Amino acid sequence: MSKAHAPKAAKSQPINGSPEQNAYMDDITKQFTIDTEKLIAIKDHFIVEMEKGLSKEKQTMVMIPSYVEGRLTGQEQGHYLALDLGGTNLRVVLVTLEGHGKFKTVSTKARVSEELKTGSMRDLCEYIADCIDTFLTEQNLENVDEDLALGFTFSFPVLQSKINRGIQTAWTKGFNCTGAVGKDPVLLLQDALLRKHVPVKITALVNDTVGTLLSNAYQKPETVAGLILGTGSNGAYVEQMTNIKKWKDGATTSHEMVINTEFGAFDNERVMLPVTRFDNKLDRKSINPHFQIFEKLISGMYLGEIVRNVITDMMDRNLLFCQPGQNTDIISGHYQFETSFMSAIESDDSPDLATVRETLDTNLNLIKVDDVELRIVKRICELVGTRAARLAAAAIAGIAIHTKVDRKGADIGIDGSLYEFYPSFEDRIYDGMAELMPDFADDIQNIVRLGLARDGSGVGAALTACVADKMFKSK
Ligand code: BGC
Repeated sequence: MSKAHAPKAAKSQPINGSPEQNAYMDDITKQFTIDTEKLIAIKDHFIVEMEKGLSKEKQTMVMIPSYVEGRLTGQEQGHYLALDLGGTNLRVVLVTLEGHGKFKTVSTKARVSEELKTGSMRDLCEYIADCIDTFLTEQNLENVDEDLALGFTFSFPVLQSKINRGIQTAWTKGFNCTGAVGKDPVLLLQDALLRKHVPVKITALVNDTVGTLLSNAYQKPETVAGLILGTGSNGAYVEQMTNIKKWKDGATTSHEMVINTEFGAFDNERVMLPVTRFDNKLDRKSINPHFQIFEKLISGMYLGEIVRNVITDMMDRNLLFCQPGQNTDIISGHYQFETSFMSAIESDDSPDLATVRETLDTNLNLIKVDDVELRIVKRICELVGTRAARLAAAAIAGIAIHTKVDRKGADIGIDGSLYEFYPSFEDRIYDGMAELMPDFADDIQNIVRLGLARDGSGVGAALTACVADKMFKSK
């Protein structure tokens, strides 16, 4: 009989507001809380959806074979270029694999403006080609004899047909360029590189989760999965070829293949997830209504906006920020309450909640805030943040159970701002996983070993270019 897991995530102070404020908070607490029974049901449904996606095309969770066959040994060596598009920034990285699980990177970062994100794919590709060109010049690599091999981390849903070919099926995370869906992002970018005479050949196309898995595996060979919990959310894991029932592409060089689950789309049908009116409001106003519902409940791009939706609803009912002279102009604007504010607010355990006060003042110009209001804002962040972590736990436990993780344990590499910077996020994930995997609850952290895989997208793309090399040579 296993021992109970002692929950690690802390609880906040009681609200002690007016009866109306207390009643409102009780109501939303119910709406945002996922109890153990519900969490188990979500995890079970997640596993069913994984299996559906492995057996047939066009399922909600698409379960995309990555064409990355087999695993790495950590002994791989060489110089590779990587390009990372899909989070907040665009990055070009030069990775030197040194063997023994060690690597070095040099990189450059550029912001992708809202105009580029929603303009034409041709403009976006030209911009990327220029960034690569500048980086090569800075690194004295512009006059090479042979084209440089580049691994392209493109963190959007792409149905792959080879390790460096695929068709994009959708945009997510606020991107919406014309002329991309239904096309191969590798060809579009390669064209732009050719037009600008940049000496680079794209040899691998990789999702950031696949890259994260590979970079974690380079250092920890017991890795079974890679996740992104950041601006967007998704996971990839190592699957047995015999379980990929829909596979029609013939013999592979290994009995295993990495699958990109695209779990951000989990339960788009909304049969299982406890979607609140605050989530529905966010969804309706998003660039991709009805899609990526799971992602919208758990990712950095959206959590702050869900909190803001609750806050503005309370404002409309005169329950919050209604003191005379209060300035609510900023908080009334879409996406003005950033997820990073939640991190700051949740990290404040002081009795007077000084950081909560400062966060509201500095970023949102909310100056007349009483102590009850501070506690309310903190509690809303806690509810939305805890729900996100517990849902992430359902996905991780689903993958761990599906891949039959046993007491020997397995590593899972995670990258992304939410996992790296949000206080208690990891503790809350472990609390959820202990409820979902009761047989392992006594030692959950040593069995499903979560760890930060920093720069999975950059190093991972270089490693994929390296795997592409290996597969090419062994065919
Ligand atoms: C995309 C995934 C990606 C994830 C994390 C999602 O919006 O659909 O392909 O892995 O974001 O970046």
